[in-house]
Amino acid sequence: MQIAVMGFGTVGSGVAELVTNNSALLARRCGVDSIEVKRILDIRDFPGSPFEDKLTKNFEDIVSDPEISVVAETMGGLRPAFEFTAACLKAGKHVVTSNKELVAAKGDELLKLARENSVSYLFEASVGGGIPLLRPISRCLAGNEFLEITGILNGTTNFILTKMITENMPFGEALSIAQKNGYAERDPSADIDGADACRKTAILASLACGKHVDPDLIHTEGIRDLNLEDVRYAHAAKFAVKLLGTCRKKRDGSFYTIVRPALVPFTSLLSRVDGVFNAVMVRGDAVGVTMFYGRGAGKMPTASAVVGDIADCVCLGRNTKTGYGWGDRDGSVVSDYLSEPVSLYVRGLATDRAAAYDELLEVFGSNRYIYVGDAPINEIAFITQRDSERTLRQKLGTLRNFSVKSVIRVEDDI
Ligand code: HSE
Repeated sequence: MQIAVMGFGTVGSGVAELVTNNSALLARRCGVDSIEVKRILDIRDFPGSPFEDKLTKNFEDIVSDPEISVVAETMGGLRPAFEFTAACLKAGKHVVTSNKELVAAKGDELLKLARENSVSYLFEASVGGGIPLLRPISRCLAGNEFLEITGILNGTTNFILTKMITENMPFGEALSIAQKNGYAERDPSADIDGADACRKTAILASLACGKHVDPDLIHTEGIRDLNLEDVRYAHAAKFAVKLLGTCRKKRDGSFYTIVRPALVPFTSLLSRVDGVFNAVMVRGDAVGVTMFYGRGAGKMPTASAVVGDIADCVCLGRNTKTGYGWGDRDGSVVSDYLSEPVSLYVRGLATDRAAAYDELLEVFGSNRYIYVGDAPINEIAFITQRDSERTLRQKLGTLRNFSVKSVIRVEDDI
């Protein structure tokens, strides 16, 4: 059985190494005589690489080769990954990928093409790195209606937050270690500003609701504006600060879908997920709560997920399809996030402390106040009661004796 890899970067080189090093056990588990990498596509040269004889710059060497039946797309980005993937599917080749940007943007089109050509388009590595997640959701939990999927979906930001909080490491230093370890995107602002977690949330939401959820519809906030003062207040109130992606089914059938930093109670398993690890909580109507945990980024964990998909395709053989994925896009699936009931952590400065407390009581009713040692004398931090986010933000906008410095959503129930 011959496969090809498109893109010889961090993940692609991991896939080539893993398939080659574990070729015999992979073949045995898939019930074939052998599995080997026949071609690797990349526009760059890799002199001295053990895969030098397999490297090509010509896509035709892969798409027109009838011996290659599975192609791993690890190029990243939309173009030319979309055109290459579409051409491989049309040529009757299974395609597996770690490219969450492409799956989130064009999954509906590529899944349709795969169905039309009786092949599979699989993307286990696109969410949660090495964690087996999409196949369990699609197969093991197929009998469930999904009520909520919430997770820590970006390894880079979780790594940075952990280093900043536990080692007092400056943001830039933590980011540069994440880059050296191969966790970060080529443009790390996709990690920091939440775009990567947004794409993964869109993929999970699409699987949960069966329609393609456009990532552009998902309200997204990253960790750029988080500061250590807020982390200290959060800890004093027994919360950790985590970047979470959520899709939660509402009574009207739409989904509250959002990516944002959130206060997670110490009692939640998610609060204890540190470093490059990701964790995803899936709540189904039959199974209740399940948790998936593992390395969310990095060369070999991600390669592990890609190779798992390759194994599935090899087992399936030609002219078959796994049949999981989703249908056409539907913008009405995503609800207005501002209408969701939330409680907010708020930190700010009082112009007059007593007047501010009076006003906060009048506007919000009873808040939960948080105190830390050596805070500035006029600083007040509190957690509001639950109300729609729109109402709470409008109320914050009316305050005269208190200027808001930070607002973070609180997730009490996870
Ligand atoms: N940059 C991504 C992350 C890679 O840090 O999670 C894995 O998708």
